[in-house]
Amino acid sequence: MGSKVALVTGASRGLGRAISIELAKEGYSIVVNYRKREEDARKTIDTLKKYGVDAVMAKADVSDPLQVQDMINVVTDNFDRLDVLVNNAGWGYLTRVADMDTGLWDRHIRVNLDGVFYVTRKALPLLSKSPSGRIINITSIAGIRGLPGLAAYSAAKAGVIGFTKALAQELSGSSITVNAVAVGFAKTEMGLSFFKATGVSVEDYEAKYTLTGKLVEPVEVARIVVYLSSEDARNITGNVFVVDSGQLLALPFPC
Ligand SMILES: NC(=O)c1ccc[n+]([C@@H]2O[C@H](COP(=O)([O-])OP(=O)(O)OC[C@H]3O[C@@H](n4cnc5c(N)ncnc54)[C@H](OP(=O)(O)O)[C@@H]3O)[C@@H](O)[C@H]2O)c1
Repeated sequence: MGSKVALVTGASRGLGRAISIELAKEGYSIVVNYRKREEDARKTIDTLKKYGVDAVMAKADVSDPLQVQDMINVVTDNFDRLDVLVNNAGWGYLTRVADMDTGLWDRHIRVNLDGVFYVTRKALPLLSKSPSGRIINITSIAGIRGLPGLAAYSAAKAGVIGFTKALAQELSGSSITVNAVAVGFAKTEMGLSFFKATGVSVEDYEAKYTLTGKLVEPVEVARIVVYLSSEDARNITGNVFVVDSGQLLALPFPC
C-alpha cells in the first residue's frame, strides 16, 4: 500500500496551503484543490514536492457539484485512495444584513456550506475504503458566536458545525471520524482583508480582541489538523476544536 492521501480544498494559499505542507511533512500525498489561482496552487505543489511526497492539482469550485465530481476523479485517477479530507475552501465578505442582496447571501451558503456537503458526499466512498478515514471541516468562531457584518458567513459556518456532528453520528461504527476546527481571525489574505475593510489595525485588534496578543498563525491550525488526521485521534469524533488566540472570550468584534 502506498502512502496515505489527503485532499485539501482551497489549498492554493492561506490555511489550506499550511495544512497541505504540515500533512506533507507527515508523508501524505496531497491533492491540492483551488478555484482560480493556478499560479498559487503551483507554488503549493512545488513546496510539497520538497518534502518528497506526490502532489497534484485539482481545479474545482466546491460550490459546483459537477466540478466537485471532476476533482474526485483526479483523486481516483492519481491515487485510487483517500484517507483524509480537509474541507477548507471558504469565502466571506463583510456586509450587514440590511444591505445584503440574495445573491451575496446565496454565494456564502453555496461556497461555505453546500461545498462541504458536495465534496464530502463524493469523497465518502473512497474514505470508507481507508483503514482510518478522516474528515476535518474548517469552520470559524463566526459559526459559534456569530459576527456582526458576517451573518451569512456565520450562518454557513454554524451549518458546518451541525453537519460535522450529524455526519459523525451517521458514521458511527465505521473507521471514519468527522471533526471541525473553528478558527479565529488568522494571518491569511482572507483574515487580513477584514482588517482592511473595518479600518482596524492588526496591532490594535491583537491587543484588544485576543487573549494571547497575537492573531492565529496558519501553522497552528495546520498542526491540529495533522493531529486529528493521526492514529492518536482515532477515538475523537463529532467535536469542534477552537484555534482562536482567545478571540471567543475577548471583546466584541469591532464592526
Ligand atoms: N483567515 C481567517 O481569519 C479565517 C478565520 C476563520 C475561518 N477561516 C476559514 O478558513 C478557511 C481558509 O481560509 P483562508 O484564510 O486560508 O482563506 P484565503 O487565504 O482567502 O484562501 C482561500 C482558499 O480557498 C479557495 N477557494 C475560495 N473559494 C473557493 C471555491 N468556491 N472552491 C474552491 N476553492 C475555493 C481559494 O482558491 P483560489 O486561490 O483559487 O482563489 C484559496 O485557496 C475558510 O474556510 C475560512 O472561512 C478563516
